[in-house]
Amino acid sequence: MSYKEAFRRSIEDPEGFWGEAAEKIDWYQKWDRVLDFDDPPFYKWFVGGMMNTCYNGLDRHLEERGDQLALIHDSPVTGGTVRTFTYRELTDLVARFAGVLRAQGVEKGDRVVIYLPMIPEALISMFACARIGAVHSVVFGGFAPRELAIRIDDAKPKVIVTSSCGIEGKKIIPYMPLLNQALSLSEHQPSQVVVVQRPEVEAELTDGRDLDYEALMRDAEPVDCVPLDANDPLYILYTSGTTGIPKGVVRDNAGHAVAMYWTMEHIYGMKPGEVYWAASDVGWVVGHSYIIYAPLIMGCTTIMFEGKPIGTPDPGAFWRVVADHKVNVLFTAPTAIRAIKREDPNGEYLKDHDISSMRELFLAGERTDPDTYEWAKDLLNMPVIDHWWQTETAWAIAGNFRGLEYFEVKPGSASMPAPGYDVRILDSDGKEVAKGDEGVIAVKLPLPPGCFTGLWENEKRFRESYMEPFPGYYFTGDGGYIDEEGYVFVMGRVDDVINVAGHRLSTGAMEEVISTHPDVAECAVVGAHDNLKGQVPIGFMVLKAGVEREHDDIVGEVVQEIRSKVGPIACFKKAAVVEQLPKTRSGKILRGTIRKIADGVDFNVPSTIDDPETLDTIEEAVKTIGYGK
Ligand code: COA
Ligand code: AMP
Repeated sequence: MSYKEAFRRSIEDPEGFWGEAAEKIDWYQKWDRVLDFDDPPFYKWFVGGMMNTCYNGLDRHLEERGDQLALIHDSPVTGGTVRTFTYRELTDLVARFAGVLRAQGVEKGDRVVIYLPMIPEALISMFACARIGAVHSVVFGGFAPRELAIRIDDAKPKVIVTSSCGIEGKKIIPYMPLLNQALSLSEHQPSQVVVVQRPEVEAELTDGRDLDYEALMRDAEPVDCVPLDANDPLYILYTSGTTGIPKGVVRDNAGHAVAMYWTMEHIYGMKPGEVYWAASDVGWVVGHSYIIYAPLIMGCTTIMFEGKPIGTPDPGAFWRVVADHKVNVLFTAPTAIRAIKREDPNGEYLKDHDISSMRELFLAGERTDPDTYEWAKDLLNMPVIDHWWQTETAWAIAGNFRGLEYFEVKPGSASMPAPGYDVRILDSDGKEVAKGDEGVIAVKLPLPPGCFTGLWENEKRFRESYMEPFPGYYFTGDGGYIDEEGYVFVMGRVDDVINVAGHRLSTGAMEEVISTHPDVAECAVVGAHDNLKGQVPIGFMVLKAGVEREHDDIVGEVVQEIRSKVGPIACFKKAAVVEQLPKTRSGKILRGTIRKIADGVDFNVPSTIDDPETLDTIEEAVKTIGYGK
């Protein structure tokens, strides 16, 4: 089928299109209706169907590929350890850990928070939850205890699975103190914490609460997959919104499994038995979809890499992993490629490795800038594909389709809308703009299978954030344009969300932390352009009247506060004190203008500005912290 035909069918006959796609996964009972869109903006896929995601990712492959590798854990940070698991071995471990959870009283619908680094037990725990219908919520290790506590209070897990430590390059990060601190902040307490002890750090266990993973696994009774309703939730994944409270994106079971299979085949051009590597983290949506679920649902081998693109030990790490495990397709973030480029601009480290198994490099998490695109393409001499997606969607909204049709790449564009996504560019009144004109990017409802079905126990926020800004459409939060040939250009967020090294963060959350500093009257945080990380947050603070302390001391305290309250991953390192913030006459801070000043780009003085001289103060401050013109 051509792309054009697939796209047309997916929009005109979504039930026919996705009903066919759903034949690729295994069902206990087929659906009654492919799509229920009787109660917009809520839509449900495969209503009446019964299936199990864990069965589709593991058990169903046992007969044909029981001895094939399902998972390769490659860990340069632990001295080059490589652990491999066949489908048979992994199924056994998952069935036994599902038994452990069951024995701890975890039943269908109960939540399990998984706070683990990039170790096989993360995959095992996620699949074990899926096996018994428990809803997992993985929290990324780089968040501070307060962020973890917010997620624990929202998801209310019966059990938390954690580890004694994570390893970040050369740093060992003990997890138990972080978890203990989070639990001292959260109202909700789990009944049990299961701890994976790693040789690098021995965690001290709290009596009556903490249990040792290995000990539990020794006596565990394996349990079978539980048939689940198509729309039962598989997981909650928290992502940054515009406020300090993250959004709990809810994924269903069946729509997700169908989309995972379809995308592996049609976007990535993968076949069962091949090797797929998403160099991301299990704490992010890319990790959920393409380290954990999609490769196994398709019967591929997935790579879990516990390392960094540089420094573990050198910028040849990615090429070494591709060569060692004969990776067919690699997916990472542009920032990782920029990091490699910066340390190895001439690709010397590539020469040591045979990467002939690799067919394509896929990039996402932020827009691939044309420089990075050209560099990677010249170096690797293979298609380099930017594709655009979000935690909410779980898979690409726009991309290039190796298993369907490949479009010549236009650097800076994420290529064509994926089948299932009726992408439109709207002006602020919700009217479609002309081809080539910029606007906000929206997707006409319904969204295809795999996309979120709501926010965890927060219908109001789901409606307000995504469905009400432009009735009949899903509001993506991104801005951009579609050119004459239909290529989608995603130019950045139109809200207060920023992308730092491919990680989505809320400037609002950082402002909330800064505002609690006793000397700060008000503040603004914006994302400024950064050559390596795409964007980094920088802050501007107005002090309370009468504060006469050294500005550097206050800045230092604020930087430390963000690190300990949001987490190191925020990369908040620079801030400046200013007399006043530029505001509109109605008192709204002009963050967009501040951002332009920080990036040193031309801007028009907004007609709504209250005091244009405040812009001069920002220009000065921006210079002192190393940004601007
Ligand atoms: N646990 C604890 N701390 C973590 C962490 C984790 N899981 N992940 C990152 N951190 C810490 C880092 O150690 C660093 O701390 P520091 O301020 O003490 O140095 C801080 O958070 C920022 O981390 P990061 O943004 O990763 O910066 P870096 O300088 O260590 O590495 C890159 C830069 C480009 C190599 C790295 O950002 C990278 O590999 N990016 C790829 C991102 C990616 O895969 N995104 C997924 C979307 S597809
Ligand atoms: P996350 O939900 O963390 O995956 O972040 C999603 C956001 O990252 C999107 O809303 C975009 O702003 C940005 N993003 C991800 N991939 C791309 C891409 N290929 N091009 C442009 N922006 C992207």
